[in-house]
Amino acid sequence: MTRHFLNLADAGGDAIAAMIGDAMDRKQAREAWPKGKQDADAPLAGHVLAMIFEKSSTRTRVSFDIAIRQLGGTSIVMDSGSMQLGRGETVADTAKVLSRMCDAIMIRTDDHAKIEELAANATVPVINGLTDLSHPCQIVADLLTLVEHGKPLPGLEVAYLGDGNNVTNSIIEAAGLMKFNVRIGCPEGYDADAEFITAAHATGANISVHRDEMEAAAGADVIVTDTWVSMGQEHVHNKMAAMMPFQVNDVIMEQAKQDALFLHCLPAHRGEEVMPSVIDVPQSVVWDEAENRIHAQKSVLRWVFEQI
Ligand code: CP
Ligand code: NVA
Repeated sequence: MTRHFLNLADAGGDAIAAMIGDAMDRKQAREAWPKGKQDADAPLAGHVLAMIFEKSSTRTRVSFDIAIRQLGGTSIVMDSGSMQLGRGETVADTAKVLSRMCDAIMIRTDDHAKIEELAANATVPVINGLTDLSHPCQIVADLLTLVEHGKPLPGLEVAYLGDGNNVTNSIIEAAGLMKFNVRIGCPEGYDADAEFITAAHATGANISVHRDEMEAAAGADVIVTDTWVSMGQEHVHNKMAAMMPFQVNDVIMEQAKQDALFLHCLPAHRGEEVMPSVIDVPQSVVWDEAENRIHAQKSVLRWVFEQI
């Protein structure tokens, strides 16, 4: 059966742990090499990854392109606006055609139902490069970053402050699979999707929602935030005032453990969800997190091709 990576649960906890280990090994094996040089074993030689972007991207676009090159393959990057998809060709037909021409498809889109339809009609692996519902590739990179910085996942206390969005949903999903706890500090009306919280609870992970930002951050090993306005939500008004108490600033960081790390998937909006005194200091590992998109996605690519 074709392996798709639409959400973290498609792989499961054991495979994600294996991906993290694989990413660490491969990252170390090519330390200080030029970024475009192939890995010695080139495990995906000859493979072509098609990438479709229906929303903007810097990290996802560049990291997948570099990832497939390092694995020995090549990529084709398309903005949906310049594809027939943008003129009304169906998702199903696009999936069938790309499956005949390429070996895997990565898509960044809005409605999660669209990626499900793409996967249902594709005969090659489909990878989620972000939908309105989830951002699983980002969270594999986040988990890799935490492990690399000496924070084993089981039992970890993660505090997420701000808007309950696609990133929040995937963090919650990861908590269930990797056995860590998440305290979400967010204003009422901006919660993460209940289905993710319910699924994580069912595995024994402790997911709690707090309307008090100090309570959410207290004693955390990791503080995470994301933009208050996700792509496609620019029309939502009156959000800033509601979000302001959940801004990650020095007072919030003081509530967390002294050696707490700060994560942000980027792009960041300094003065909104995070202050420069938090993101631009050594406690912040956002640049490692961004680089790790390459290493994590190499493992995701290897997983969909059954090499992990
Ligand atoms: N974090 C992330 O997905 O960044 P891009 O939107 O730049 O791809
Ligand atoms: N939640 C953000 C993540 C960007 C990488 C968005 O969807 O725009």
